[in-house]
Amino acid sequence: MEQDPTRRDFLKKLAGATGALVIAPTFAACGGGAEEAPAPEPEPEPTVGAEEPVAAEPDPLAIPQTKPADWDAIAFNKERGNAGAIPESYLPSINGPDGDTQHLGKHLPYLAEVDEGDVPAGMIALMWGDPAMGYARHPNAPPTEDNPDGHWYDWIRIRKATEGEAEEAESHYRGWPEVEQPEDGGYAVMGGGSITADGGKNTIYLAKLPADVSPGDTIRVHAHCLTHGEYVDFVVV
Ligand SMILES: [Fe+2]
Repeated sequence: MEQDPTRRDFLKKLAGATGALVIAPTFAACGGGAEEAPAPEPEPEPTVGAEEPVAAEPDPLAIPQTKPADWDAIAFNKERGNAGAIPESYLPSINGPDGDTQHLGKHLPYLAEVDEGDVPAGMIALMWGDPAMGYARHPNAPPTEDNPDGHWYDWIRIRKATEGEAEEAESHYRGWPEVEQPEDGGYAVMGGGSITADGGKNTIYLAKLPADVSPGDTIRVHAHCLTHGEYVDFVVV
């Protein structure tokens, strides 16, 4: 920045008049020996953010709006899990030799085969870990001393798989084997009987469907297991 000539002249005159060295603050940062007090930091030049080219870092936790042609749910959730969507304590399991079927696959959603009449209007029946795919079935458990969080899915977000505007319906499950609030999603039991039988593996999650979803649509299911983190997959309804 050019110094104001009037001020420079004034400083020269002042130095001449007193015989002392007068250093204008804008020069102080450039000069100075080791013994001198640290010079004040120069004022940073104002920057215009919009003109700065910023390299767009891909978000490792981003999830696609639509099902990619080469969608691989196991690979996607393994990568996203290692990037932070799955707790560190579970990473050795998902990355282990049986990680795909016993841990990642176990957390992927599939449509439970139930009579339509057993599913409330506007909802969908989901389970996790499709045996038809060779995956372990997901168990469910209430909080215990060893696992005070409990083990079940505490939220499920469902969105029509579209690039356009779409509503995302979110269902909560604030307890297991019973939901604790009436506005929560609900549970049903595969084959009837007790929901706690077989380690809770017969639990069906009744989740809200967005109003813009029609039969035959692909939906994106993004859900969170209290113990094992977040998982994403696409399901045709
Ligand atoms: Fe889990």
